[in-house]
Amino acid sequence: MNELDSIVDSARSAFAAALTPAELENAKAQFTGKTGRITELMKGMAALSVDEKKTRGAAINLAKQAIEAALNARRQALADAELESQLQAESLDVTLPGRMREPGGLHPVSLTLERIELIFASMGFEVADGPEIESDWHSFTSLNNPPNHPARSMQDTFYVDIQGDDGIAYNLRPHTSPMQVRYAHVHVKKHAETLKAGGAMPEIRVICPGRTYRVDSDATHSPMFHQCEGLWLGENISFKDLKVVFTDFCRTFFESDDLALRFRPSFFPFTEPSAEIDIQFQSGPLAGRWLEVAGSGQVHPTVVRNMGLDPEKYIGFAFGMGPDRLTMLRYGVNDLRLFFDGDIRFLRQFR
Ligand code: DAH
Repeated sequence: MNELDSIVDSARSAFAAALTPAELENAKAQFTGKTGRITELMKGMAALSVDEKKTRGAAINLAKQAIEAALNARRQALADAELESQLQAESLDVTLPGRMREPGGLHPVSLTLERIELIFASMGFEVADGPEIESDWHSFTSLNNPPNHPARSMQDTFYVDIQGDDGIAYNLRPHTSPMQVRYAHVHVKKHAETLKAGGAMPEIRVICPGRTYRVDSDATHSPMFHQCEGLWLGENISFKDLKVVFTDFCRTFFESDDLALRFRPSFFPFTEPSAEIDIQFQSGPLAGRWLEVAGSGQVHPTVVRNMGLDPEKYIGFAFGMGPDRLTMLRYGVNDLRLFFDGDIRFLRQFR
């Protein structure tokens, strides 16, 4: 075997031994690189005569072409192998079973809110929604709870660090009661013509469910919780109507005809008289205990005036209840925080 053939041979075996593109390029350098064996042979031709250059040059060129052909073949082989292993790694097994998507369901508190809305709608109540970031006036002052009044400490309120150009202070509403005044304003505006003409304003009959916030956190209190406000205002709505409506609601909600209710005297700035409403089951695990479910009362004349109405003419009742607590009682849940942890194992039980 002549010298050139043996160079080509060793190039072929060096390329075959290279397992990565980088190894292959290193191997290539030994033959056709700047100081490679072929390159050196070409440099050595300078000393030859013209005729010798022709034959020697042609022979070296042939060897060089053979080396380059081997190099390209190996490059291609390595690239193919690389692609193949990539395809292997990313391959899809189309015989695997599909991923199951479980049916979703409503949150237990949402189920309660739907239920509350349905029951009150059947008694002719509208459902209204309002802002969770509320002005100081709506949350407190309009509800007969002026600045510096001790009753403000009944709710440990989150104050919001924004203050309008008008100097209004805002809070995360600590209750849904501001919706009484907001809704009344909209209602009064809607019937302004009738009122101006001395006509009778249609009654206000509304519930306002929604999120509320207080600085409070334990097994039965969450910084975010739910309330549902109720308001029925007209020319002749009395405490008797409150008793009938709320009793009817509770018995329907808990599907219990013998559920007992107790209206316990209490204080709220926005009602006079005021009452806490307790319920008592006659059977089941909670039977016999009085359980508080709402605050209520006859709407205070100052609040009626702040609604833009004449308290000598319009009278009615309001209540505020806790849908979270109703949910706990209905399903026998003893820790409120379970509702807001987002643990699917707990939530899926209500689906
Ligand atoms: N807003 C009261 C609270 O959060 C609950 C309440 C009491 C609402 C009496 C009312 C009411 O509408 O008349 O504690």
